[in-house]
Amino acid sequence: MTDNLTEGLDELARELDRDHVFHSWSAQANPSGLVIASGRGSRVWDHAGREYLDFSSQLVNVNIGHQHPSVVQAIREQAELLTTVAPSTVNLARGEAAKRIVARAPSGFRKVFFTNGGADANENAIRMARLHTGRDKVLSTYRSYHGNTGAAIVSTGDWRRIPNEFARGHVHFFGPYLYRSEFWATTPEQESERALQHLRRVIEAEGPSSIAAILLETIPGTAGILVPPPGYLSGVRELCDRHGILLILDEVMAGFGRTGRWFAFDGYDVRPDLITFAKGVNSGYVPVGGVIISDPIAATFDDRVFPGGLTYSGHPLAMASIVAALDAMESEGIVDHAREIGSTIIGPALAELAERHAAIGEVRGEGVFWAIELVADPATREPLPAAAIGRLKSALVERGLLPFVQDNRIHVVPPCVVTADEVADAMVIYDDVLRTALEGEG
Ligand SMILES: Cc1ncc(COP(=O)(O)O)c(C=O)c1O
Repeated sequence: MTDNLTEGLDELARELDRDHVFHSWSAQANPSGLVIASGRGSRVWDHAGREYLDFSSQLVNVNIGHQHPSVVQAIREQAELLTTVAPSTVNLARGEAAKRIVARAPSGFRKVFFTNGGADANENAIRMARLHTGRDKVLSTYRSYHGNTGAAIVSTGDWRRIPNEFARGHVHFFGPYLYRSEFWATTPEQESERALQHLRRVIEAEGPSSIAAILLETIPGTAGILVPPPGYLSGVRELCDRHGILLILDEVMAGFGRTGRWFAFDGYDVRPDLITFAKGVNSGYVPVGGVIISDPIAATFDDRVFPGGLTYSGHPLAMASIVAALDAMESEGIVDHAREIGSTIIGPALAELAERHAAIGEVRGEGVFWAIELVADPATREPLPAAAIGRLKSALVERGLLPFVQDNRIHVVPPCVVTADEVADAMVIYDDVLRTALEGEG
């Protein structure tokens, strides 16, 4: 293929996109996405061969890296055998995938309900919690993202709507975030204690016996990689136990290797009742998510119909990709690598970067799950304005680094397989761009 033709493909992709594709979370008039045509490991390319270091892992999902050969091969082999199957049937790939997932969960979790992604995993976990407890309310934090669905089943006309008319009953509270504490806290211990006291008051004010579940991202991701302070998650568990409330931990972004552990909650003294997952379980090679269900909740539906389902629940291509992805992560030590590179290379490099740039208010994270919090003034912690963040983002892309930018933050979230050399290259780019793009700022 000549360069002209490949340049032409990028232009064609942009033109078709502009004319016909309606994008998520965007005003449609000014599309700004990059053309990505191929990938390998922690790198992607456009049609013309321009290379980018993918320090976004797309949407923080490509944990195993792009185009892992054994996962691609497993999808190919499954496609030749059977590309689709009804959810009510029995299928070997589905059982193999579920077995591998529960093997990573704590004891007392034996069943998996498969969904198409993370949002419907949370929808179904909430449905299970409400039907199991007979209560309606669900408490979750202001700083969280759990997915983009909700009205579909309430719009449905047939019997499937009736057990699911739960459009009410969502209550929010503040979780811990020491850098921008809602509780005037100055230490992690204080933040933990005061955030728990706040939650205790919210539970009392809402009426404990009306609350089915507390839904938390173990480490809130898009909201800023807010690593919980010591004692917080176990304190939430205690409150749940005291009041018969279920704890749902959303591991959609944090799970399957991102923190350097199979589940983020493995690093804390906490055991949930339901676990939701998606993204890292198969690195997004085929859309999939699901709920890992503890035995007592699963037993609720032994003789009672579970009023939930999806045409593609347990889709064979997704199942084959989960089996191959989890096997490769295990045999290649990919989760250990994420932990190691996080603690020995990424963490120290980001701390050094923070020393050099006054605009970095805080860096926090673990594994391959880090946030750089950018501020206009380190004393007041006023967030860096959107225009400056926009300049940084463009400059990073221009330098060949695909960033994950959210509000006033850059999230450093490469695939778990990222190498020390790639991290070093990325740090040079972050350093240069922070220096040049913020000239005259503050
Ligand atoms: C923590 C968390 N939960 C749920 C979701 C929703 O997942 P999906 O986009 O697959 O529906 C996301 C997506 O980013 C997420 O980060």
